[in-house]
Amino acid sequence: MSSIFEPYPVSLVHQLIEPGPTVMITTGGDQWPTIMTNGFNMPVRHDGTLAVVVGPWDTTYETLRRVGECVIAVPDTGLLETTVDVGNASSAQMNKWEHFGLTQLPASTIEAPLIGECVANIECAVEDDTLVDAYDLWILRARAAWLRPDAETPEFHHRGNGTFTENGQLHDLRDRMTKWQHLT
Ligand SMILES: Cc1cc2nc3c(=O)[nH]c(=O)nc-3n(C[C@H](O)[C@H](O)[C@H](O)COP(=O)(O)O)c2cc1C
Repeated sequence: MSSIFEPYPVSLVHQLIEPGPTVMITTGGDQWPTIMTNGFNMPVRHDGTLAVVVGPWDTTYETLRRVGECVIAVPDTGLLETTVDVGNASSAQMNKWEHFGLTQLPASTIEAPLIGECVANIECAVEDDTLVDAYDLWILRARAAWLRPDAETPEFHHRGNGTFTENGQLHDLRDRMTKWQHLT
């Protein structure tokens, strides 16, 4: 097939449509609350329904199965290195809070802690786990959310291969959202 395109590996298509910002997820835990890094996440509905991929290779997976609650914490670029390091270590082997100097703050509706250093924290309950066995895909529902108004640096996205982009320039096209005015 003659084309202006080159073939691209199907195994890497996730890098073409990388999803939401890189986040950290905390849950309750046996020894200490677990923390993991998560790049595969997305909003699902406008009512606080979210989806995250958390697989059995994560300690978080077992805890999430058991307690059915977690916090999604959004770091900014000041936490970029820490976020990558959190995702390259296991809560089964270390207390990541102490090791990486992260602060547990109490959530208002669930046991899992907020991360004090993050710019936003979303308290979530598992809404639907029917896709977990097949896809490691958890449907969550936000119960409460917290935002630091003093945040200065942007969030960042994982491009799926260890490289990251910062949230960039804001383009305000709200006046063109004629069909979706209720969202603006
Ligand atoms: C940048 C980055 C993104 C990651 N994204 C995901 C993800 O979307 N889903 C997942 O299950 N693991 C993901 N991981 C791997 C987990 O963060 C990693 O397995 C972590 O150490 C699990 O921690 P835990 O064992 O304490 O739960 C990612 C790791 C990194 C470094």
